[in-house]
Amino acid sequence: MRALVCTGYGNGENLTLASRPTPEPGAGEVRVRVLACGANASDWEFVTGTPLYGRISRWFLRKDVFGSDVLGEVAALGPGCGRLRLGQRVLADTFGTFGGYAEHCVAKEALWVPVPDGVSDVFAAALPQSGTIALSAMKGRAGPGKRVLVNGGGGGSGPLAIQLAAAAGAEVWAVDTAAKADVMHEAGAVRVLDFEREDFAALEERFDLILDLYGTRPIARVRRRLNPGGEYLFVGGPMGRVLAAAAAMLWTRFTTRRASLLMVPQGPDALAELMEMVLDGRLRPVVGEVTSLDCARQALIDMGARRIAGKLVIVP
Ligand SMILES: NC(=O)c1ccc[n+]([C@@H]2O[C@H](COP(=O)([O-])OP(=O)(O)OC[C@H]3O[C@@H](n4cnc5c(N)ncnc54)[C@H](OP(=O)(O)O)[C@@H]3O)[C@@H](O)[C@H]2O)c1
Repeated sequence: MRALVCTGYGNGENLTLASRPTPEPGAGEVRVRVLACGANASDWEFVTGTPLYGRISRWFLRKDVFGSDVLGEVAALGPGCGRLRLGQRVLADTFGTFGGYAEHCVAKEALWVPVPDGVSDVFAAALPQSGTIALSAMKGRAGPGKRVLVNGGGGGSGPLAIQLAAAAGAEVWAVDTAAKADVMHEAGAVRVLDFEREDFAALEERFDLILDLYGTRPIARVRRRLNPGGEYLFVGGPMGRVLAAAAAMLWTRFTTRRASLLMVPQGPDALAELMEMVLDGRLRPVVGEVTSLDCARQALIDMGARRIAGKLVIVP
């Protein structure tokens, strides 16, 4: 089979389309023929080794074919598998074992969730990591009368987070580049800021929830923009900011303006709920580019260079 193999660290020159043996499923594992694989910022962090946690995680994981939002058709069942059937369309978050940027991918049977007929391959593959981030952030936090700000609102997870918050009845503000203003408005943001011209931490307004998908500011400064009882939820950003958010979780725990590091759950739990939301129209992934495995290297370089607005999905 063909697979996009990553060697060392670089800016995409370290990705090569290579021939690999088709993997065979072991006990309790299922192999799918990949129909689509969504790309995430974390894939690019593994390719470049930046921020530092990308390099540290990769050293532990010891993988060289990335891609973890995998939509495929069941092609082989390992010993002990009985829940799925051959030919069934299934979706998994294979973060940890990866293997989605290839023609075939093996993962534990428990990870694969059947995909309803009304959800397209591309929409399903755009959901696992971004949808789970959005759902974990907004569930139980956004609601009528709440004002929510999503920083980094025009990337992979941002539009889904905005849609969920707006659907829950919150007033949503969103921050990203001016080029992504339409995407954020269409997702349901009532006010959109361009981070290259405006600093949301310098606003007069206060928020009940600030979801930071790309945190660059000192946490003490951002917390001043929270209403009493409000929460600052940090998801990703440079390594120093990740460590600061982890520390702030402790020192703000008993204050009225909490800061937390969102630990995104991996695995199948949110996938059925997210696909249900796509089916009934509550959620609409924003897909910026769909490309083949042959063109995946360049597409990932474009994603890393911020040239793709919305999700990149690779269709082998
Ligand atoms: N905590 C966890 O458990 C966990 C798990 C998985 C992933 N993550 C992290 O969560 C984040 C996922 O977000 P995502 O998938 O939506 O990433 P994404 O697609 O890269 O979106 C981030 C958005 O933020 C924008 N941005 C860049 N610099 C900014 C700034 N200074 N101010 C405001 N916006 C800025 C980006 O614009 P440009 O594209 O123009 O740069 C992009 O539109 C990533 O940082 C990832 O590493 C965390």
